Amino acid sequence: MSHQPLDGRVAIVTGGSRGIGAAIAAALAEDGAAVVVSGRDAARLERVVAELTDLGRAAHGVVADAASREDCDRLVEATKQRFSRVDILVNNAGITRDELLIRMKDEDWDRVMEVNLRGAFLMTRAVTKAMVRQKTGGRIINITSTAGAMGNAGQANYSAAKAGLIGLTKAAARELAHWSILVNAVAPGLIETDMTAALPAKAREALLAQLPLKRIGTAREVAEMVRFLAGDGAAYITGQVFHVNGGLYM
Ligand code: NAI
Repeated sequence: MSHQPLDGRVAIVTGGSRGIGAAIAAALAEDGAAVVVSGRDAARLERVVAELTDLGRAAHGVVADAASREDCDRLVEATKQRFSRVDILVNNAGITRDELLIRMKDEDWDRVMEVNLRGAFLMTRAVTKAMVRQKTGGRIINITSTAGAMGNAGQANYSAAKAGLIGLTKAAARELAHWSILVNAVAPGLIETDMTAALPAKAREALLAQLPLKRIGTAREVAEMVRFLAGDGAAYITGQVFHVNGGLYM
């Protein structure tokens, strides 16, 4: 097989069992990386691992809850055991629990914060220790959202978590630059996945009406930005937020 830009590198993609995460895992594998995908559904993970293996790449699935410290530490350990190193982390696992602020339950606030924000912190801390020891730098890419930049009615919890993720991205970029670990965020707009399939038709139409490109994006279009940020061409980029949103937010 010919030389690929990410040959010899090892990536972890959380929430890689479907949607944007699965598309990211495929793009990184196409570029030559060995990929570890995590998620909660063992059967779905197995399917993604089989697809990645079909691309001729080494892949491994780990059932892990992004909000659990034990699971995050175990995920990084499993990656090191299987592939001896870790070079790229994509914090993609995310959930929504939408409700108007006035009716939002404490549990809905807490769970969205735990998975989207605490999970990214736990994974960042765990991989950073490994990357610092390796002394070969690294890339951390956080999947945030347009909602984190502009807010979204009915998503106070999600908007706060995704805005928090942007703050985490910038603080981590400053702290970790010393070890050549680059930290960036990608903020998708409206992308066709199971998450948006749950949107009521009216909300979807209202969003489409505001979209300059007049269409929903694909998971692959988000993955292309992550692929770029994981590669050598992005060596002078850290602490930035890249919007992939058809012009929804400028
Ligand atoms: P999805 O619902 O299709 O997939 C989410 C993935 O995260 C799944 O693989 C799921 O298993 C995993 N996941 C959820 N909770 C988890 C947990 N506790 N532990 C481990 N894995 C968990 O969602 P989609 O659309 O692919 O979203 C991926 C990321 O992109 C999320 O962070 C989401 O917030 C973000 N995003 C999505 C947009 C969209 O329009 N679809 C827009 C902006 C951001």
